[in-house]
Amino acid sequence: MEEKEYEQTIRPRLIDEYIGQTEVKENMKVFIEAAKIRGEALDHVLLYGPPGLGKTTMAFIIANELNVNIKTASGPSIEKSGDLAAVLSSLEPGDVLFIDEIHRMPRFIEEILYPAMEDFTLDIIIGTEGSTRNIKIDLPPFTLVGATTKAGDLTSPLRDRFGIVNKLQYYTEEELTQIVKRTSKVLETEIEDEAAKELALRSRGTPRIANKLFRRVRDFALVEGKSIIDLEVTRKALDRLKIDRIGLDETDKEILLTIIEKFNGGPVGIDTLATSVGEEVSTIEDMYEPYLIQIGMLKRTSRGRIATQKAYEYFHKNKQGTLL
Ligand code: ADE
Repeated sequence: MEEKEYEQTIRPRLIDEYIGQTEVKENMKVFIEAAKIRGEALDHVLLYGPPGLGKTTMAFIIANELNVNIKTASGPSIEKSGDLAAVLSSLEPGDVLFIDEIHRMPRFIEEILYPAMEDFTLDIIIGTEGSTRNIKIDLPPFTLVGATTKAGDLTSPLRDRFGIVNKLQYYTEEELTQIVKRTSKVLETEIEDEAAKELALRSRGTPRIANKLFRRVRDFALVEGKSIIDLEVTRKALDRLKIDRIGLDETDKEILLTIIEKFNGGPVGIDTLATSVGEEVSTIEDMYEPYLIQIGMLKRTSRGRIATQKAYEYFHKNKQGTLL
């Protein structure tokens, strides 16, 4: 099974099956219910937060709970105005249009979205140079669900057109434990309580990571002839995958140790840091940094990134970057 297919299988389909994000969930229930009572399309929804926290899952749940179709697109995949026009004109009343990575949509495409979101009209220019004309096409009322890892990168005219804005947070250990247990039920692979908790502790507050690691741990259990995933095999698998005791992977550690050892704790600019670690700036900014900031190991300052005292302590380093 491919990673995407696997994610689909274990994805909750109903809002009451969705674990965590309590405030977002409770608010969405009200807005969905109200839209249904009024018989109107739900207001446009923006979901933002680090990758892997369930933005796509939430978009599918919203459509499912509204009993409407969902059409999906992603910011970078919409290259021509015709791409957006095609998907918009395929919508039926009340449908959800989900645009992932909406901050990466080209600017001129974004401008087509404004009247579509606001008045449900599609303003397009037809013809060729010299003989063009603008035409307006009515669209059915629809709900745009936009997802982004970087709300700060959205232009304000776009952000302002979302009536509902939700920030997804990292999950607690208890919530992740519940998610791991739910996945174990869906996949019919038993896991002991302490093992589920260990997996949760080492998943960087992120369901996508917990579920991915679950799959790997399950492989180790299978090969070792264990019918139940226990703490021992969980620890062994996670150690082999170089996931440390608080869930940091090799890249997380490299980022922090680079700042400490090569840049004397920082501040170091993100471009220099990325080159030094051998990752893309956007990978560091979107995937790694948010969690390291959240757990207080890294700080973003106007002069660059710095490793915190907590990071020094965690790696047993002193200010010269040498082992204590
Ligand atoms: N799988 C991924 N995210 C989830 C969530 N928030 N609740 C339940 N299962 C999930």
